[in-house]
Amino acid sequence: MDDDRSTQPGPRRMTQVFVDGMDGETPGVPMSFEDLEAAALESLSGEAYDYVAGGAGSESTVDRNRRAFEDYRLLPRMLRDVSDRDLSTTVCGTELAHPVMLAPVGVQSIIHEDGERATARAARELGLGMVSSSAASTTLEDIHAELDDTPAWFQLYWSSDHDLARSFVDRATETGYDALVVTLDTPMLAWRERDMQRAYLPFLDRDGVANYFADPTFQSRIDGDVTENRQAAVEEFLDVFSDPTLTWEDFAWLCEYSDLPVVPKGILHPEDARRAVDAGAAGVVVSNHGGRQVDGAVGALEQLPAVVDAVGDDADILFDSGIRRGADALKALALGADAVLFGRPYVYGLALDGADGVREVCENFLADLDLGLGLVGCSDVDRLDESMLAE
Ligand code: FNR
Repeated sequence: MDDDRSTQPGPRRMTQVFVDGMDGETPGVPMSFEDLEAAALESLSGEAYDYVAGGAGSESTVDRNRRAFEDYRLLPRMLRDVSDRDLSTTVCGTELAHPVMLAPVGVQSIIHEDGERATARAARELGLGMVSSSAASTTLEDIHAELDDTPAWFQLYWSSDHDLARSFVDRATETGYDALVVTLDTPMLAWRERDMQRAYLPFLDRDGVANYFADPTFQSRIDGDVTENRQAAVEEFLDVFSDPTLTWEDFAWLCEYSDLPVVPKGILHPEDARRAVDAGAAGVVVSNHGGRQVDGAVGALEQLPAVVDAVGDDADILFDSGIRRGADALKALALGADAVLFGRPYVYGLALDGADGVREVCENFLADLDLGLGLVGCSDVDRLDESMLAE
């Protein structure tokens, strides 16, 4: 294999796996998503596994997200010189080496003791963009320091204390994040049967509250020090976590206020996408939160074409909810997404082997995507379009 080609993620990873195989080694982290999930189930506590794998209500939205991918089939083309494949793209002003970022996933301390730091380390090693969650178990400042100059976006849960929300935006801006993802699908926590059955909410164990406890605006709401008055701090967190009163006027205010590009997450209806862009959004994330918020909802991929139509060239489009393999990403990109967010699979990698596990799962995913891109007859992710899909 010549040097040029082995710098591409697909051949590089394949070579590594097969060369290791000659020494009798097989991959430590399972290659297939199904085996990866099963292994994570073995390694996590029941509470943590259910928190990650579960969804709202009957979990029909989680299932639907996956089934939606089956409605689209890739249509490979031949003899198009796919030796040199370009996976790089620019989304909402951020240059990405791959059309993929790590989705914001909170409370990673319940998955692995190194939590978000491990995820950020793996992202840095791979040059893979990461969206850091408001509900992280490590502060946004510490995660950014670990990411160094890797593309970094901050995800905002808009607190009912608007001064606190503003403080998060200010901190993310001052820290050097490149964009602000505002999750709109969580005006309140959803009914999740698995968590209810276990009577488990990680925040009550003070997991996922680091950004809040470290915030001066939050601290000013607590009598005394948050570390001394932890119970009151947790109760305060639950009180201010979300704001069901928010409207599009608030969103327009945020677009005006923020120096960072604003990217709403959780968009499913094309009219909401258009409204967000008209209010000043730089992009939208088509997502149903991995089926964790609304039971019986539409599969996120089903909505992608309509959102693409509604937004046109006025903003960039990201997609998540159900991306498991390279082919899934290719389908979303062919339908008009500019990049995808990778969610549960990397969390399972974190469960199995910390930063190394995240890195391995992501390397496999990027390799699969790179090879898939070439095999469908395309050498540039920015040129993927609906002609790559069967009618
Ligand atoms: C999430 N997700 C999420 N989203 C967000 O905006 N802020 C957050 O803190 C979290 N936290 C979180 C925790 C866990 C355990 C999961 C599984 C998901 C949603 C996430 O960003 C993304 O939308 C979904 O993970 C996409 O679905 P799949 O591909 O993971 O099924």
